[in-house]
Amino acid sequence: MTHKVTIKELAAKAGVSVTTVSQILNGKSNRFSSDTIARVHKLQDKLNYIPNFNARNLILNEAKSIGVVVPNIGNPFFSSFIDGIQKVSRDFEYLPFNFSGDNDSQLEEYYVEQLIGRGTNGLIIASSSITKETIDGILKKNRIPYLLMDQNPLSDGDQIRTSDETGGHLVANYLLSMGHKRIAIVVPSNATSNIRLRLTGFREEVINQGMDPEQIITVINSPLSKTGGFAAAGAVINSEVTAVFTVNDEMAIGLYRGLKNKGIQVPTDISVMGYDGIDLGTYVEPELTTIQQPISRMGELAAQLLINRIQKPNIDRQVIELPVRLIERKSVTVPKK
Ligand code: RIB
Repeated sequence: MTHKVTIKELAAKAGVSVTTVSQILNGKSNRFSSDTIARVHKLQDKLNYIPNFNARNLILNEAKSIGVVVPNIGNPFFSSFIDGIQKVSRDFEYLPFNFSGDNDSQLEEYYVEQLIGRGTNGLIIASSSITKETIDGILKKNRIPYLLMDQNPLSDGDQIRTSDETGGHLVANYLLSMGHKRIAIVVPSNATSNIRLRLTGFREEVINQGMDPEQIITVINSPLSKTGGFAAAGAVINSEVTAVFTVNDEMAIGLYRGLKNKGIQVPTDISVMGYDGIDLGTYVEPELTTIQQPISRMGELAAQLLINRIQKPNIDRQVIELPVRLIERKSVTVPKK
């Protein structure tokens, strides 16, 4: 077994006290001579001494950690989002602790409480569970910086959002422009408010174009997952629509498989349009037409705004809305009849 060098050993070799080593390695070295500082750093390199983060934490009272709670880490949307968070956190030497609530609000709440209890510096919450009571009673009371986004319904504190309503308009406009007049929307029955806004935008666009949403839209409820999309295939076929909008890309990919199993071809028989722009959409056949959210950028900015807030708690409220755009690929065509 290899021996882990301790701060005591390093101090003894350098001929200084443990406190001196600790202060020098934590950047509080102004009261020591340049010789002592150089000796300690040189020995640190030579002995491969890795400071114990918990001890450092006690000295500086700074964990430099960010808690991140997402609804479902299995969805590539959230892994790209976390990737963005990691990039920026690394630049600022913060460590993100990521948790997936698996769409279970009790589990999400558990992670939030655990993160707070373990002294995390701030939280990014993209899941829907955290309530106003938790924010007012715990986060605000203890001055814990936080950023709510995506599936979280509360418009409180710093925020990154995307224009979900515009996204809905873009989907409807595109499908109508291709000549579709019977369109299914596959959406979870308990859709979060960001997703409901996509539906609002869709309906508004149908109305703006002088049509009756009741005549055009068939709503099919199914869970927000590949399995949910797969399970919706039968209802989609029965509804005799010519096009489907699934409110995320994962559902679209599941629906592809469900339709294929039932002998339906996309887009010849039924056009399918997703939402998110996960990279998997370019690897399925046919490539998925979708609305691109700037996912990794959302993560980067979430980390950036949270770290700004941790470092300067009194700055003005920070709110950024990012645009979405239509990506035209191969899964939508003109209807047969
Ligand atoms: O795919 C995950 C979906 O849930 C995305 O559309 C994202 O915006 C989130 O709400």
